[in-house]
Amino acid sequence: MGFKKDFMWGVGSAAYQIEGGAFEDGKGPSIWDTFTHEPGHVKDDDNGDIACDHYHRYEEDASLIAGLGRTVYRFSICWSRIIPDGDGEVNPKGIDFYKRLIDALLSRGVTPCIVLFHWDLPQALEDRGGWLNPESPMWFKRYTEVCAKAFGDKCKLFFTFNEPQCFIGEGYYHGANAPGKKLPMSDMMPMVHNVLIAHGLSVTALRELVPGVKVGYAPTTGGTAPITDSPADVEAARQALFRIDEEWWMWNVPLFSDPVMLGHYPEEDPFFKKYCEFLPENYMEDMRTICQPLDYYGQNIYYAHLWKMGEDGNPEYVKKPTGYAKSLINWAVTPQALYWAPKFLYERYNTPIVITENGMACHDAISLDGKVHDPNRVDYIHRYLRELRRAVDDGVDVAGYFHWSFTDNFEWCSGYTDRFGIVYVDYETQKRIPKDSYYFYKSVVESNGENL
Ligand code: NOJ
Repeated sequence: MGFKKDFMWGVGSAAYQIEGGAFEDGKGPSIWDTFTHEPGHVKDDDNGDIACDHYHRYEEDASLIAGLGRTVYRFSICWSRIIPDGDGEVNPKGIDFYKRLIDALLSRGVTPCIVLFHWDLPQALEDRGGWLNPESPMWFKRYTEVCAKAFGDKCKLFFTFNEPQCFIGEGYYHGANAPGKKLPMSDMMPMVHNVLIAHGLSVTALRELVPGVKVGYAPTTGGTAPITDSPADVEAARQALFRIDEEWWMWNVPLFSDPVMLGHYPEEDPFFKKYCEFLPENYMEDMRTICQPLDYYGQNIYYAHLWKMGEDGNPEYVKKPTGYAKSLINWAVTPQALYWAPKFLYERYNTPIVITENGMACHDAISLDGKVHDPNRVDYIHRYLRELRRAVDDGVDVAGYFHWSFTDNFEWCSGYTDRFGIVYVDYETQKRIPKDSYYFYKSVVESNGENL
Protein backbone atom coordinates (compact mmCIF):
# COMPACT_ATOMS: atom_id res chain seq x y z
CA MET A 1 0.00 0.00 0.00
CA GLY A 2 2.60 2.56 1.09
CA PHE A 3 2.16 6.24 1.88
CA LYS A 4 -0.83 8.08 0.41
CA LYS A 5 -0.27 10.28 -2.62
CA ASP A 6 -0.86 13.48 -0.66
CA PHE A 7 1.25 12.36 2.31
CA MET A 8 2.80 15.38 4.06
CA TRP A 9 6.57 15.08 4.12
CA GLY A 10 7.92 17.79 6.33
CA VAL A 11 10.68 19.25 8.41
CA GLY A 12 10.26 21.19 11.62
CA SER A 13 11.72 24.02 13.65
CA ALA A 14 10.70 26.33 16.49
CA ALA A 15 11.00 30.10 16.75
CA TYR A 16 13.27 30.41 19.77
CA GLN A 17 15.51 27.60 18.58
CA ILE A 18 16.36 29.16 15.21
CA GLU A 19 15.26 32.75 14.74
CA GLY A 20 17.64 34.94 16.69
CA GLY A 21 16.68 38.60 16.23
CA ALA A 22 15.68 38.33 19.85
CA PHE A 23 15.50 42.06 20.50
CA GLU A 24 14.76 43.34 17.00
CA ASP A 25 11.87 45.16 15.39
CA GLY A 26 9.80 45.60 18.51
CA LYS A 27 9.76 42.01 19.69
CA GLY A 28 8.91 41.70 23.39
CA PRO A 29 10.90 39.37 25.65
CA SER A 30 9.72 35.81 26.11
CA ILE A 31 10.35 33.58 29.11
CA TRP A 32 13.22 32.00 27.14
CA ASP A 33 14.92 35.38 26.68
CA THR A 34 14.74 35.92 30.41
CA PHE A 35 15.76 32.39 31.37
CA THR A 36 18.76 32.14 29.06
CA HIS A 37 20.11 35.46 30.31
CA GLU A 38 20.19 34.23 33.88
CA PRO A 39 23.42 32.30 34.41
CA GLY A 40 23.40 28.60 35.18
CA HIS A 41 20.29 27.42 33.36
CA VAL A 42 21.71 26.54 29.95
CA LYS A 43 24.79 24.55 28.96
CA ASP A 44 27.69 26.98 28.47
CA ASP A 45 25.25 29.78 29.34
CA ASP A 46 24.27 29.96 25.70
CA ASN A 47 21.14 31.69 24.49
CA GLY A 48 18.97 32.16 21.41
CA ASP A 49 19.85 35.83 20.80
CA ILE A 50 21.26 34.89 17.40
CA ALA A 51 20.69 31.11 17.15
CA CYS A 52 20.65 30.23 13.42
CA ASP A 53 19.94 33.84 12.48
CA HIS A 54 16.92 32.57 10.61
CA TYR A 55 15.27 35.96 11.20
CA HIS A 56 17.65 37.33 8.57
CA ARG A 57 18.37 34.17 6.58
CA TYR A 58 14.86 32.84 6.05
CA GLU A 59 15.13 33.15 2.25
CA GLU A 60 18.19 30.89 2.16
CA ASP A 61 16.49 28.48 4.56
CA ALA A 62 13.33 28.42 2.44
CA SER A 63 15.45 27.53 -0.61
CA LEU A 64 17.10 24.68 1.25
CA ILE A 65 13.73 23.32 2.38
CA ALA A 66 12.45 23.56 -1.18
CA GLY A 67 15.50 21.55 -2.26
CA LEU A 68 14.02 18.54 -0.49
CA GLY A 69 11.11 18.38 -2.92
CA ARG A 70 7.39 18.68 -2.20
CA THR A 71 7.53 19.47 1.50
CA VAL A 72 5.65 21.06 4.34
CA TYR A 73 7.57 23.31 6.71
CA ARG A 74 6.40 23.30 10.31
CA PHE A 75 7.58 26.41 12.15
CA SER A 76 6.35 28.18 15.26
CA ILE A 77 5.37 31.77 15.74
CA CYS A 78 7.00 33.77 18.50
CA TRP A 79 4.00 35.19 20.35
CA SER A 80 5.94 38.18 21.73
CA ARG A 81 7.13 39.11 18.24
CA ILE A 82 3.48 39.45 17.23
CA ILE A 83 2.11 40.90 20.49
CA PRO A 84 5.09 42.11 22.54
CA ASP A 85 3.32 42.09 25.91
CA GLY A 86 1.15 39.09 25.07
CA ASP A 87 -2.30 40.64 24.96
CA GLY A 88 -1.88 44.32 24.05
CA GLU A 89 -0.82 46.08 20.87
CA VAL A 90 0.04 44.08 17.77
CA ASN A 91 3.54 44.63 16.36
CA PRO A 92 3.28 45.13 12.58
CA LYS A 93 6.94 44.28 12.04
CA GLY A 94 6.46 40.92 13.71
CA ILE A 95 3.49 40.16 11.47
CA ASP A 96 5.52 41.29 8.48
CA PHE A 97 8.35 38.86 9.23
CA TYR A 98 6.08 35.81 9.19
CA LYS A 99 4.26 37.07 6.10
CA ARG A 100 7.59 37.33 4.31
CA LEU A 101 8.54 33.86 5.51
CA ILE A 102 5.24 32.38 4.28
CA ASP A 103 5.68 34.08 0.91
CA ALA A 104 9.26 32.81 0.67
CA LEU A 105 8.00 29.27 1.27
CA LEU A 106 5.01 29.42 -1.06
CA SER A 107 6.98 30.97 -3.91
CA ARG A 108 9.31 27.95 -3.70
CA GLY A 109 6.53 25.39 -3.56
CA VAL A 110 6.80 24.67 0.17
CA THR A 111 3.57 24.45 2.19
CA PRO A 112 3.67 26.44 5.44
CA CYS A 113 2.47 24.89 8.68
CA ILE A 114 2.19 27.11 11.74
CA VAL A 115 2.63 25.94 15.32
CA LEU A 116 1.10 28.61 17.51
CA PHE A 117 2.93 27.76 20.71
CA HIS A 118 6.33 26.16 21.00
CA TRP A 119 7.15 27.21 24.56
CA ASP A 120 8.20 30.90 24.31
CA LEU A 121 5.46 32.54 26.39
CA PRO A 122 5.67 36.35 26.45
CA GLN A 123 7.45 37.33 29.66
CA ALA A 124 4.77 39.94 30.37
CA LEU A 125 2.18 37.16 30.56
CA GLU A 126 4.37 35.03 32.80
CA ASP A 127 4.60 38.05 35.10
CA ARG A 128 0.81 37.90 35.33
CA GLY A 129 0.81 34.26 36.40
CA GLY A 130 1.33 32.65 33.01
CA TRP A 131 -0.72 29.51 32.38
CA LEU A 132 -1.89 29.53 35.98
CA ASN A 133 -3.88 32.68 35.37
CA PRO A 134 -7.50 31.72 34.55
CA GLU A 135 -7.40 34.45 31.88
CA SER A 136 -4.61 32.66 30.01
CA PRO A 137 -6.94 30.75 27.66
CA MET A 138 -8.40 34.08 26.56
CA TRP A 139 -4.92 35.51 25.92
CA PHE A 140 -4.21 32.54 23.71
CA LYS A 141 -7.53 32.88 21.92
CA ARG A 142 -6.79 36.51 21.07
CA TYR A 143 -3.26 35.67 19.91
CA THR A 144 -4.73 32.91 17.72
CA GLU A 145 -7.19 35.37 16.21
CA VAL A 146 -4.41 37.80 15.37
CA CYS A 147 -2.41 35.02 13.68
CA ALA A 148 -5.46 33.62 11.90
CA LYS A 149 -6.35 37.03 10.44
CA ALA A 150 -2.77 37.84 9.49
CA PHE A 151 -1.66 34.50 8.03
CA GLY A 152 -4.82 32.49 7.37
CA ASP A 153 -5.21 33.68 3.78
CA LYS A 154 -2.01 31.85 2.80
CA CYS A 155 -1.40 29.31 5.55
CA LYS A 156 -4.09 26.67 6.00
CA LEU A 157 -2.35 24.27 8.33
CA PHE A 158 -2.08 25.00 12.04
CA PHE A 159 -1.09 23.15 15.18
CA THR A 160 -2.04 24.71 18.51
CA PHE A 161 0.40 23.49 21.17
CA ASN A 162 3.71 21.68 20.86
CA GLU A 163 4.49 19.30 23.71
CA PRO A 164 2.39 20.62 26.58
CA GLN A 165 3.96 17.79 28.60
CA CYS A 166 7.35 19.39 28.25
CA PHE A 167 6.69 23.08 28.71
CA ILE A 168 4.47 22.41 31.72
CA GLY A 169 6.51 19.56 33.23
CA GLU A 170 10.01 20.84 32.56
CA GLY A 171 9.16 24.53 32.82
CA TYR A 172 6.98 24.59 35.93
CA TYR A 173 7.47 21.31 37.81
CA HIS A 174 11.08 20.21 37.33
CA GLY A 175 12.26 23.73 36.55
CA ALA A 176 14.83 22.64 33.96
CA ASN A 177 13.27 24.76 31.21
CA ALA A 178 11.97 28.33 31.24
CA PRO A 179 10.62 29.82 33.41
CA GLY A 180 12.47 27.46 35.76
CA LYS A 181 9.76 27.05 38.40
CA LYS A 182 9.12 24.13 40.72
CA LEU A 183 5.45 24.31 41.53
CA PRO A 184 3.37 21.75 43.43
CA MET A 185 0.78 19.39 41.93
CA SER A 186 -1.95 21.70 43.22
CA ASP A 187 -0.74 24.17 40.57
CA MET A 188 0.01 21.63 37.88
CA MET A 189 -3.52 20.33 37.43
CA PRO A 190 -5.12 23.79 36.97
CA MET A 191 -2.29 24.71 34.60
CA VAL A 192 -2.89 21.64 32.46
CA HIS A 193 -6.58 22.47 32.45
CA ASN A 194 -6.00 26.08 31.36
CA VAL A 195 -3.74 24.97 28.51
CA LEU A 196 -6.38 22.50 27.34
CA ILE A 197 -9.06 25.20 27.38
CA ALA A 198 -6.69 27.46 25.46
CA HIS A 199 -6.28 24.71 22.86
CA GLY A 200 -10.05 24.37 22.43
CA LEU A 201 -10.64 28.11 22.12
CA SER A 202 -7.83 28.33 19.61
CA VAL A 203 -9.25 25.56 17.42
CA THR A 204 -12.65 27.27 17.42
CA ALA A 205 -11.10 30.61 16.49
CA LEU A 206 -9.11 29.05 13.64
CA ARG A 207 -12.21 27.37 12.25
CA GLU A 208 -14.14 30.63 12.37
CA LEU A 209 -11.46 32.77 10.78
CA VAL A 210 -9.54 30.57 8.35
CA PRO A 211 -11.59 29.08 5.51
CA GLY A 212 -10.36 25.61 4.61
CA VAL A 213 -8.14 25.36 7.69
CA LYS A 214 -6.74 22.03 8.89
CA VAL A 215 -5.97 21.95 12.60
CA GLY A 216 -3.99 19.61 14.81
CA TYR A 217 -2.42 19.28 18.24
CA ALA A 218 1.17 18.14 18.86
CA PRO A 219 1.73 16.51 22.25
CA THR A 220 4.58 14.15 23.07
CA THR A 221 5.78 11.30 25.24
CA GLY A 222 8.01 8.27 24.96
CA GLY A 223 6.16 5.65 22.94
CA THR A 224 5.69 2.06 24.02
CA ALA A 225 6.32 -1.18 22.15
CA PRO A 226 5.77 -4.82 23.08
CA ILE A 227 8.80 -7.01 23.56
CA THR A 228 7.13 -9.71 21.38
CA ASP A 229 4.16 -9.65 19.02
CA SER A 230 2.12 -11.85 21.34
CA PRO A 231 -1.35 -10.43 22.02
CA ALA A 232 -0.56 -10.24 25.74
CA ASP A 233 2.60 -8.18 25.25
CA VAL A 234 0.87 -5.95 22.72
CA GLU A 235 -1.86 -5.34 25.27
CA ALA A 236 0.79 -4.51 27.89
CA ALA A 237 2.35 -1.89 25.60
CA ARG A 238 -1.07 -0.47 24.77
CA GLN A 239 -2.01 -0.13 28.42
CA ALA A 240 1.37 1.37 29.27
CA LEU A 241 0.95 4.10 26.66
CA PHE A 242 -2.32 5.22 28.18
CA ARG A 243 -1.53 5.27 31.86
CA ILE A 244 0.04 7.90 34.07
CA ASP A 245 3.13 7.05 36.06
CA GLU A 246 3.24 8.78 39.44
CA GLU A 247 6.95 9.66 39.29
CA TRP A 248 7.09 10.77 35.66
CA TRP A 249 3.53 11.97 35.57
CA MET A 250 3.99 14.68 32.95
CA TRP A 251 5.23 12.25 30.31
CA ASN A 252 1.92 10.70 29.52
CA VAL A 253 -0.66 10.66 26.75
CA PRO A 254 -4.11 10.47 28.38
CA LEU A 255 -4.02 13.48 30.72
CA PHE A 256 -3.11 15.73 27.81
CA SER A 257 -4.97 14.03 24.97
CA ASP A 258 -8.10 12.29 26.26
CA PRO A 259 -9.84 15.61 27.08
CA VAL A 260 -8.89 17.00 23.66
CA MET A 261 -9.82 13.89 21.68
CA LEU A 262 -12.44 12.12 23.80
CA GLY A 263 -13.96 14.91 25.87
CA HIS A 264 -13.02 13.58 29.29
CA TYR A 265 -10.00 13.09 31.52
CA PRO A 266 -8.74 9.52 32.18
CA GLU A 267 -11.13 9.34 35.12
CA GLU A 268 -10.22 5.77 36.13
CA ASP A 269 -6.46 6.32 36.22
CA PRO A 270 -5.14 6.15 39.83
CA PHE A 271 -2.98 9.22 39.29
CA PHE A 272 -5.93 11.19 38.01
CA LYS A 273 -8.10 10.07 40.90
CA LYS A 274 -5.44 11.22 43.34
CA TYR A 275 -4.94 14.69 41.90
CA CYS A 276 -8.24 15.66 40.27
CA GLU A 277 -9.25 17.47 43.46
CA PHE A 278 -6.97 20.27 42.26
CA LEU A 279 -8.96 20.83 39.09
CA PRO A 280 -11.59 23.57 39.11
CA GLU A 281 -14.81 22.30 40.65
CA ASN A 282 -16.85 22.23 37.44
CA TYR A 283 -14.04 21.06 35.22
CA MET A 284 -16.32 18.71 33.27
CA GLU A 285 -18.21 21.71 31.93
CA ASP A 286 -15.08 22.88 30.12
CA MET A 287 -14.92 19.69 28.07
CA ARG A 288 -17.28 21.16 25.50
CA THR A 289 -14.67 23.86 24.87
CA ILE A 290 -11.63 21.58 25.08
CA CYS A 291 -12.86 18.77 22.84
CA GLN A 292 -13.03 20.18 19.33
CA PRO A 293 -12.90 17.97 16.25
CA LEU A 294 -9.37 17.93 14.87
CA ASP A 295 -8.15 17.15 11.38
CA TYR A 296 -4.94 15.64 12.70
CA TYR A 297 -3.76 14.05 15.88
CA GLY A 298 -0.07 15.01 15.97
CA GLN A 299 2.43 13.27 18.18
CA ASN A 300 6.15 13.82 18.63
CA ILE A 301 7.79 10.39 18.84
CA TYR A 302 11.50 9.71 19.20
CA TYR A 303 11.69 6.31 20.89
CA ALA A 304 9.69 3.61 22.61
CA HIS A 305 9.99 1.95 26.00
CA LEU A 306 9.59 -1.81 25.87
CA TRP A 307 6.88 -3.71 27.74
CA LYS A 308 5.67 -7.21 28.34
CA MET A 309 2.65 -8.56 30.16
CA GLY A 310 3.60 -9.60 33.66
CA GLU A 311 2.42 -12.79 35.31
CA ASP A 312 0.10 -10.76 37.54
CA GLY A 313 -1.66 -9.41 34.45
CA ASN A 314 -0.09 -5.97 34.71
CA PRO A 315 2.26 -4.39 32.16
CA GLU A 316 5.90 -4.88 33.11
CA TYR A 317 8.68 -2.57 31.98
CA VAL A 318 11.48 -4.39 30.14
CA LYS A 319 15.06 -3.22 30.58
CA LYS A 320 16.71 -2.30 27.29
CA PRO A 321 19.12 -4.85 25.81
CA THR A 322 22.71 -4.54 27.00
CA GLY A 323 24.64 -2.20 24.71
CA TYR A 324 21.50 -0.95 23.00
CA ALA A 325 21.86 1.57 20.17
CA LYS A 326 21.35 5.12 21.31
CA SER A 327 21.61 8.68 20.10
CA LEU A 328 24.10 11.29 21.29
CA ILE A 329 21.74 12.17 24.12
CA ASN A 330 21.10 8.53 25.06
CA TRP A 331 17.68 8.18 23.53
CA ALA A 332 17.26 4.53 22.52
CA VAL A 333 17.09 3.81 18.81
CA THR A 334 13.80 1.91 18.63
CA PRO A 335 12.31 2.17 15.13
CA GLN A 336 9.27 0.11 16.15
CA ALA A 337 8.16 3.25 18.03
CA LEU A 338 6.80 4.50 14.70
CA TYR A 339 4.75 1.37 14.23
CA TRP A 340 3.20 0.84 17.65
CA ALA A 341 2.53 4.38 18.87
CA PRO A 342 0.64 5.46 15.71
CA LYS A 343 -1.31 2.18 15.85
CA PHE A 344 -2.32 2.59 19.50
CA LEU A 345 -3.07 6.30 19.08
CA TYR A 346 -5.20 5.72 16.00
CA GLU A 347 -7.16 2.96 17.74
CA ARG A 348 -7.93 5.26 20.65
CA TYR A 349 -8.48 8.59 18.92
CA ASN A 350 -9.63 7.54 15.45
CA THR A 351 -8.17 10.63 13.81
CA PRO A 352 -5.47 10.80 11.10
CA ILE A 353 -2.07 10.67 12.74
CA VAL A 354 0.77 13.07 11.97
CA ILE A 355 4.23 12.40 13.33
CA THR A 356 4.94 16.00 14.22
CA GLU A 357 8.53 15.34 15.32
CA ASN A 358 10.98 12.47 15.01
CA GLY A 359 14.74 12.60 14.70
CA MET A 360 18.10 12.03 16.28
CA ALA A 361 20.94 14.02 17.87
CA CYS A 362 24.29 12.79 16.56
CA HIS A 363 27.99 13.62 16.76
CA ASP A 364 28.01 15.72 13.60
CA ALA A 365 31.18 17.36 12.31
CA ILE A 366 32.50 18.74 9.06
CA SER A 367 34.79 16.12 7.53
CA LEU A 368 37.98 16.79 5.59
CA ASP A 369 35.97 16.64 2.38
CA GLY A 370 33.91 19.60 3.62
CA LYS A 371 30.78 17.48 3.99
CA VAL A 372 28.85 16.31 7.02
CA HIS A 373 28.44 12.54 7.04
CA ASP A 374 25.79 11.33 9.46
CA PRO A 375 25.29 7.63 8.72
CA ASN A 376 23.57 7.02 12.05
CA ARG A 377 20.88 9.59 11.25
CA VAL A 378 20.43 8.23 7.71
CA ASP A 379 19.95 4.76 9.15
CA TYR A 380 17.60 6.10 11.83
CA ILE A 381 15.37 7.82 9.28
CA HIS A 382 15.40 4.75 7.08
CA ARG A 383 14.46 2.32 9.83
CA TYR A 384 11.86 4.53 11.50
CA LEU A 385 10.10 5.33 8.24
CA ARG A 386 9.95 1.65 7.30
CA GLU A 387 8.12 1.06 10.56
CA LEU A 388 5.80 3.98 9.88
CA ARG A 389 5.04 2.47 6.48
CA ARG A 390 4.29 -0.84 8.19
CA ALA A 391 1.70 0.98 10.30
CA VAL A 392 0.20 2.49 7.14
CA ASP A 393 0.09 -0.94 5.51
CA ASP A 394 -1.73 -2.26 8.57
CA GLY A 395 -4.47 0.33 8.11
CA VAL A 396 -3.33 3.19 10.35
CA ASP A 397 -4.31 6.48 8.73
CA VAL A 398 -1.01 8.39 8.80
CA ALA A 399 -1.26 11.79 7.13
CA GLY A 400 2.27 13.11 7.55
CA TYR A 401 5.76 12.95 8.98
CA PHE A 402 7.86 15.94 10.03
CA HIS A 403 11.51 15.30 10.58
CA TRP A 404 13.04 17.10 13.54
CA SER A 405 14.76 19.12 12.70
CA PHE A 406 15.52 21.05 9.59
CA THR A 407 18.69 22.79 10.78
CA ASP A 408 20.78 22.26 13.88
CA ASN A 409 19.57 24.71 16.46
CA PHE A 410 19.38 25.84 20.08
CA GLU A 411 18.42 22.69 21.96
CA TRP A 412 16.91 24.46 24.98
CA CYS A 413 18.90 23.88 28.19
CA SER A 414 21.49 21.81 26.27
CA GLY A 415 22.41 24.94 24.33
CA TYR A 416 24.08 24.23 21.00
CA THR A 417 25.72 20.95 21.97
CA ASP A 418 23.05 18.61 20.59
CA ARG A 419 22.65 18.71 16.83
CA PHE A 420 19.35 17.38 15.49
CA GLY A 421 19.38 18.93 12.00
CA ILE A 422 19.57 17.40 8.56
CA VAL A 423 21.32 20.66 7.74
CA TYR A 424 24.48 21.47 9.67
CA VAL A 425 24.89 25.02 10.98
CA ASP A 426 28.34 26.45 11.59
CA TYR A 427 27.40 28.92 14.31
CA GLU A 428 30.56 31.02 13.79
CA THR A 429 29.81 31.75 10.15
CA GLN A 430 26.13 30.77 9.94
CA LYS A 431 27.03 28.65 6.95
CA ARG A 432 24.52 25.87 6.25
CA ILE A 433 25.79 22.50 5.04
CA PRO A 434 23.21 19.87 4.08
CA LYS A 435 24.22 16.61 5.76
CA ASP A 436 24.06 13.20 4.08
CA SER A 437 20.71 12.72 5.81
CA TYR A 438 19.35 15.77 3.94
CA TYR A 439 20.02 14.00 0.65
CA PHE A 440 18.63 10.73 1.96
CA TYR A 441 15.45 12.40 3.17
CA LYS A 442 15.16 14.18 -0.19
CA SER A 443 15.15 10.79 -1.91
CA VAL A 444 12.42 9.64 0.45
CA VAL A 445 10.31 12.72 -0.27
CA GLU A 446 10.84 12.48 -4.02
CA SER A 447 9.87 8.80 -4.14
CA ASN A 448 7.00 9.22 -1.62
CA GLY A 449 8.75 6.64 0.52
CA GLU A 450 9.03 4.04 -2.23
CA ASN A 451 12.80 3.83 -1.73
CA LEU A 452 12.58 2.77 1.89
C1 NOJ B 1 11.01 18.25 21.44
C2 NOJ B 1 10.79 19.70 21.12
O1 NOJ B 1 9.53 19.99 20.60
C3 NOJ B 1 11.89 20.33 20.30
O2 NOJ B 1 11.84 21.69 20.53
C4 NOJ B 1 13.21 19.69 20.69
O3 NOJ B 1 14.27 20.36 20.08
C5 NOJ B 1 13.19 18.25 20.26
N1 NOJ B 1 12.05 17.57 20.83
C6 NOJ B 1 14.46 17.49 20.59
O4 NOJ B 1 14.67 17.44 21.94
